[in-house]
Amino acid sequence: MIIVGALVGSSGAILSYIMCKAMNRSFTSVILGGFGGGGETSELSGEKNVSPGSADDASFIMKNASSVVIVPGYGLAVAQAQHAVREMADLLKKHDVNVRYAIHPVAGRMPGHMNVLLAEANVPYDDVFELDDINSDLPNIDVAFVIGANDVTNPLAKTDPQSPIAGMPILDVERCKTVLFVKRSLSPGYAGIDNPVFYNQNTMMLFGDAKKMTEEIVKSL
Ligand code: TAP
Repeated sequence: MIIVGALVGSSGAILSYIMCKAMNRSFTSVILGGFGGGGETSELSGEKNVSPGSADDASFIMKNASSVVIVPGYGLAVAQAQHAVREMADLLKKHDVNVRYAIHPVAGRMPGHMNVLLAEANVPYDDVFELDDINSDLPNIDVAFVIGANDVTNPLAKTDPQSPIAGMPILDVERCKTVLFVKRSLSPGYAGIDNPVFYNQNTMMLFGDAKKMTEEIVKSL
């Protein structure tokens, strides 16, 4: 029991270390410090306009693109949308669209969360790229399909030193030509902060459950 306990304890410590490194936070600030505000939509979202779209809009945009990057996050896990996403990617590939997945190291709620879900849906490993390997290529991508992710795409991490995610590396999806955001509302994610990318001119919000919306896109494709 002592040996098993030691193994469990050290595995937990290693995972926590990996998570802190990915969030650019010290171990003590993660354990002791508060992070996030509790899921309210911030005032900012009430003042700005977003461009909502439908599954048909999304399917039209993506099938006419030459490259799509899928950015999964916690909402994909909640909705269990991984199989629908894989189906969507397969259909896009039939339209000669280059489809890849971009994985942020702390997307979801545990290290490797997204990788496990994509593996479960038999997404080919060669299509899956880590943040460091794909970020510099994002300005050349036609469409970022952000599904259930939020904090891991929030540019405030780079621009606002007061932000709870300040200093965390992010996926620069706003540099893609078009950004499609699948989520149910303008609510913030784990860090409790608004995401300015929702209000950009090149962003289309696809409001709905991640699985349901992706299934509708599949139908439309
Ligand atoms: P989050 O920033 O938490 O955003 C998830 C988004 O998913 C929410 O904004 C939510 O918006 C949406 N969502 C929830 N259920 C949904 C559904 N059924 N359909 C569609 N959308 C849904 O997620 P992220 O971008 O993956 O970032 C992870 C966050 O967790 C980071 O802040 C990270 O630091 C933190 N964290 C990570 C870990 C590890 S190790 N991965 C551990 C602890 C904390 P709506 O409510 O509007 O739908």
